Amino acid sequence: YRRLRVALLGAGAVGSQVAHLLHTHADELADRAGAALELAGIAVRDVDAPRDVELPRELLTTDAETLIVGSDIVIELMGGIEPARAHIQLALNSGADVVTANKALLATHGTEIFDAADQVGASVYYEAAVAGAIPIIRPLRDSLAGDRVNRIMGIVNGTTNYILDRMDGEGAEMAEVLADAQRLGYAEADPTADVEGYDAAQKAAILASLAFHTTVPLDAVHREGITGITKGMMDAARHAGYVIKLLAVCERLSGRADVADGAEAISVRVYPALVPRDHPLASVHGVNNAVFVQAEAAGDLMFYGAGAGGMQTASAVLGDLVSAARRHIAGGAGVGESTRANLPTVDIGKVVTRY
Ligand code: NDP
Ligand code: HSE
Repeated sequence: YRRLRVALLGAGAVGSQVAHLLHTHADELADRAGAALELAGIAVRDVDAPRDVELPRELLTTDAETLIVGSDIVIELMGGIEPARAHIQLALNSGADVVTANKALLATHGTEIFDAADQVGASVYYEAAVAGAIPIIRPLRDSLAGDRVNRIMGIVNGTTNYILDRMDGEGAEMAEVLADAQRLGYAEADPTADVEGYDAAQKAAILASLAFHTTVPLDAVHREGITGITKGMMDAARHAGYVIKLLAVCERLSGRADVADGAEAISVRVYPALVPRDHPLASVHGVNNAVFVQAEAAGDLMFYGAGAGGMQTASAVLGDLVSAARRHIAGGAGVGESTRANLPTVDIGKVVTRY
């Protein structure tokens, strides 16, 4: 096989599992990709920090730039905006394809990154950025490209679902359960992103952009987190036959009385909602996520599975890595096929409405 150099940026909850699986499944991955995927190095902040998985010391480096230049594929799993944004930019300018799970970056700088990739004929893959292990980016971007999505409703943050589920089931306190979610590698580096709904809002912006073929700016997403939810509220909801879930809802409003005739409008919102206990979303427990998609021709579709966790998310990252490797060895065939979420066929950004 031809060898492809893979640079891994980050060896935290997700990155360490990606490195581990790259090593243990090397032969199978090579067969599927049609190329040997050589882990050229792993950029971290502190090479001596304790890791979930033992990693070869000689691969660890704090010099991300040198690692990136000369790599064929760069996997960004550092999180946050900087230096992740600059590293991805450098990777694209150096001719590499990029795999990332960074929804915070894509929801705020996605256009800039996709434009940069288009300019150099590279691709950015991001299946892991929304709903962890669940395949949802490709289904929306590719499988449903011939349909018209009208509504997406889902639980897209594993940490808050884990917290709310344990508050509901065990009467646990939010703070104690959040600490468990952090220990298990579900939460963001700053867990405020989870509990205040920022993470879910970033994912909702990405999903809505894909579903409605436009660019939904993050500040157009209505956001409420779960920090105001108390045990008393959970108990009251239970006694009334409901459970409280943090929902992300993306929907077309066209045709509604408050939207002008012929106008395209969408609403994208994240908020804790009362879900009837017999609704399918009420049975999404623990760190699981679920995304319901309603499309004109396909009807109702449901995607379900682990929404966070190092190993689970690594599955989605490695799927993207195989896709990137296949494209790379095909000489960039299908340039742009996985680059942009969508081409803005309808300019509905102007009429995105708040809920
Ligand atoms: P962690 O915080 O566990 O790990 C981050 C890694 O990046 C660490 O190895 C850290 O180095 C390294 N890093 C951070 N900043 C820098 C820097 N400035 N320079 C060099 N290295 C740096 O994050 P996760 O693995 O949880 O998440 C990674 C990405 O995946 C994020 O974008 C997150 O949103 C996304 N994601 C996470 C999921 C999860 O379940 N955890 C699920 C889906 C997506 P060091 O170890 O030395 O500190
Ligand atoms: N912190 C995120 C969550 C990770 O809990 O869903 C997965 O994106």
